[in-house]
Amino acid sequence: MSKTVKDYIRTIVDFPHEGILFRDVTTLFADARGFRMAIDQLLNPYAGMRIDKVAGLEARGFILGGAVAHQLSTGFVPIRKKGKLPGRTIAQGYTLEYGEAVMEVHDDALLPGEKVLLVDDLLATGGTAEAGIRLIERLGGEVVGCAFVIDLPDLGGRRKLEAMGMEVHCLCA
Ligand code: PRP
Ligand code: ADE
Repeated sequence: MSKTVKDYIRTIVDFPHEGILFRDVTTLFADARGFRMAIDQLLNPYAGMRIDKVAGLEARGFILGGAVAHQLSTGFVPIRKKGKLPGRTIAQGYTLEYGEAVMEVHDDALLPGEKVLLVDDLLATGGTAEAGIRLIERLGGEVVGCAFVIDLPDLGGRRKLEAMGMEVHCLCA
């Protein structure tokens, strides 16, 4: 039987803390077939839609989002952990499955009205994606889709984003 995207992802027990089942996508990224399959499937629902920029969430969203942006011939906007971006930024705090953090984006990364596809590897509580959406919207961008490789449905991220009116696309759970 042919492999699915999920077959390329491994689970590491108790990383980075006891009790966390960490979905490790490095094994997906390392496989040419798996990586291409993931990028193609992330893009699939957005064929024919206007997308001006792809925004990726640090860190694994950069790898996926960069490839998606290349395929769509759009620019790429990095949404980074606090203190990493060199220019003037706006910041948004958020809560994680295992901690708290702040995301930032350059304040000139988008033009008002630009349509943005948000990309990351995994949707858990949705806190990271929500911070990304808020940052994009604060810059005047419109999030037209949120695409993830993995959804952890028990953590409620999809419900949270859909309650914000977002279109959510995940390749596997
Ligand atoms: C992971 C993952 C998502 C986020 C999802 O990143 O890549 O960005 O957690 O969790 P949430 O839906 O509960 O917000 P992580 O915070 O581990 O950062 P990293 O990619 O820089 O390691
Ligand atoms: N980010 C939040 N929860 C995660 C998990 N279980 N695996 C990988 N990344 C995560």
